[in-house]
Amino acid sequence: MPSDQVLDVLVQGQPADFPVPSGVYAERVTAVQHYTDRLFKFRITRPAALRFRSGEFVMIGLPNAEKPVFRAYSIASPSWDEELEFFSIKVPNGPLTEHLQKIQPDDTILMRKKPVGTLVNDALIPGKRLYMFSTGTGIAPFASLVRDPETYDKFEEVILTHTCREAAELKYGEELYELCMTDPLVGEFAKGRLRHYTTVTREPFERTDRITTLLRNGKLFEDLGVPPIDPESDRGMICGSMAMLNETKGILEGFGLEEGANSKPATYVVERAFVD
Ligand code: A2P
Repeated sequence: MPSDQVLDVLVQGQPADFPVPSGVYAERVTAVQHYTDRLFKFRITRPAALRFRSGEFVMIGLPNAEKPVFRAYSIASPSWDEELEFFSIKVPNGPLTEHLQKIQPDDTILMRKKPVGTLVNDALIPGKRLYMFSTGTGIAPFASLVRDPETYDKFEEVILTHTCREAAELKYGEELYELCMTDPLVGEFAKGRLRHYTTVTREPFERTDRITTLLRNGKLFEDLGVPPIDPESDRGMICGSMAMLNETKGILEGFGLEEGANSKPATYVVERAFVD
């Protein structure tokens, strides 16, 4: 059967219509919040056996077909949280998100068991200042990392940049920043050490350039009152579209940063914001 027909079998709010494949958890949706017609977040129960490092991603699917479509989603909640949070785009006619955007509390979500990823503190060598460069839903892995005390153990200053097309798309990050300031676990560290730098590219806003432009012309450093990126002290993490990743990688390498991995930590790391 072609996959389109298989997906038509979707029944929302029901237990899995098909046997849960092996190597997959079936979890319950606990909350859904829509931000714009393109963005929403959802939370699910956390399997007791799941261990992950803040910044990693998992494969997510729906129990709507014998062979469900899975897509990579960064876990947006920190590794200590009792639930798992995800921040998603809604892709028109997207094989997964077309259905995923309709989920309601108590629906079932499938999740493959193995979390992986390179946007983790372990893949960076110690430094003074950590830059997290994100566009759109690329903020998700950083939402996990900025709520993890380990990030503040490792870095004196954390700069979270978020660029979106429209100002309404910044809301998730704004809520995250507020949450960090009052969070019982990281609030004390985040105050004065976590900085949130936002830009919007397709409507009037305080800053309307892409982050790549602001890095190249030095306006980012001027606005933040910090020296330009220096491989001695600065570290980078990048998460966005393929084009954004490639461009930002080139810029960071121009500043002398080198790409790291779990097996070989270095001065910057990248991950694609997968669903597009
Ligand atoms: P722009 O509006 O100028 O295209 P998207 O939703 O398409 O992933 O875009 C999210 C944000 O990322 C938008 O503000 C977009 O700017 C920006 N963006 C797109 N491509 C790049 C790139 N190559 N480098 C930096 N930012 C980019």
